[in-house]
Amino acid sequence: MILAAGKGTRLKSRVPKVLHKIGGRTLLEHVIASTAAVAPPADTVVVIGHEAERVRTAVAATGVKFVEQREQRGTGDAVRCAAPALAGYEHALVLVGDAPLLRPQTLQRLRDVHLERGADITLLSAEPDDPTGYGRIIRATRNGEPTDEVTAIVEQKMLSPDQLAIREINSGIYCFRLPPLLQHIGELSDKNAAGEFYLTDMAGILSKRRYRVVAVPAESATEVLGVNSRAELAQLDAAERRRTCLRLMAEGVTIYRPETAVIDADVQVGQDTVIEPFVQLLRGTKVGADCHIQSYCVISGSEIAEGVTVRPGCILTDSRVARGAHLGPYSHLRPESEIGEGAHVGNFVETKKTRLGRGAKANHLSYLGDAQIGEGVNVGAGTITCNYDGVNKHRTVIEDGAFIGSDSTLVAPVKIGAGAYVGAASCITEDVPADSLAVARGRQANKPGWASARRAERQKK
Ligand code: UD1
Ligand code: CA
Repeated sequence: MILAAGKGTRLKSRVPKVLHKIGGRTLLEHVIASTAAVAPPADTVVVIGHEAERVRTAVAATGVKFVEQREQRGTGDAVRCAAPALAGYEHALVLVGDAPLLRPQTLQRLRDVHLERGADITLLSAEPDDPTGYGRIIRATRNGEPTDEVTAIVEQKMLSPDQLAIREINSGIYCFRLPPLLQHIGELSDKNAAGEFYLTDMAGILSKRRYRVVAVPAESATEVLGVNSRAELAQLDAAERRRTCLRLMAEGVTIYRPETAVIDADVQVGQDTVIEPFVQLLRGTKVGADCHIQSYCVISGSEIAEGVTVRPGCILTDSRVARGAHLGPYSHLRPESEIGEGAHVGNFVETKKTRLGRGAKANHLSYLGDAQIGEGVNVGAGTITCNYDGVNKHRTVIEDGAFIGSDSTLVAPVKIGAGAYVGAASCITEDVPADSLAVARGRQANKPGWASARRAERQKK
């Protein structure tokens, strides 16, 4: 069961908290992913409430089930609302929707300890550097030494002065044996600082009735950290991206200054690729082996084959680049650009829905939209495909081996035949047959002596 009905007041956002993102994925998607190893989606219930429809739509594709908590009266109330969905189960793992770094193996360990220990509640605890804001664990003692049993969880707002020193916190992630939980959940009260039904009070309630409540410390405190503020969102985003960089480096990728890399968890990078500082690789981007991605590139939803060089400042969105191509500096590949093997796209070249054939070159200052450009074509500096007539978009076709002189405008729909030449500064409005030369510009006229005559006239005046 994942509790995700809260508003997230402290984020001061119009977006429900669990739909905020770290590492390019919503908090709730992270939490759902962490449960995959212990329960199939059909056995996973998400409690929704604040902006319920929006949250449901955002994660519906995962196949989990939903229960609605109409009024957000606390975590204890959320579990009570979901009780009907628990019928027929003996135990339940309960997770908060705002602690996204939890690893699946930790959840497996929590379940295993719970069953081995025959516990009624097993909670995952941790000792973060700063325990402020979290519920604290009160351990039972035997001969003055703490045991693994817990007598209560005390929320931050309810801590007595001497309890403030307790470093061990409640992660909000538990395993419950359901019969005692459901039998006694009605004993929760909202007579506390927040006026909410605290699920955490179940620890004290069941412990007093001599049920077994135990705590299992998490291996790292980082993985149970919650997101309650924008500052924590930034911290967890950084932690998640650090994990991704560590994974990629372990797989044989060089990342200089990984603390500056912004890489989504679903990104793949091949062996011996080098990533320079301040690079963003987002939304399932795949980069092949032996590539060189230089600084300040933002590459999103794209596929880059092996041996590609992307020089600084390139933006690639939903595009594909074949092996050995060179991009940048400052190239802009908009959606559905396809750059062929060994092709070059240079500075200040923008492409959109454009295919550049093998070995083709567009090295400087061009706009290439809705174009099909053949193998070995040379697109001169400043070439522009005029693809838009104000109403519709039209295609430009440049066949293999053609040469487009600098500063040409190609008014689509238009076709330049194989091997043809277009003279520099031409405005091409009609198809150019293969193997011919098209020149479409004013003729040059030279007037000898014109300059000195003009200067003399000026002086006279
Ligand atoms: C909770 C725990 C605290 C623990 C911390 C760990 C309680 C009372 N406190 O505190 O001991 O240290 O998590 O991160 O449980 N939610 C609902 N319905 C509600 C209220 C909340 O579904 O009525 C959901 C929220 O969407 C959220 C989760 O429960 O995902 C936790 O709620 P939150 O308000 O963030 O609890 P904390 O104060 O962080
Ligand atoms: Ca929280």
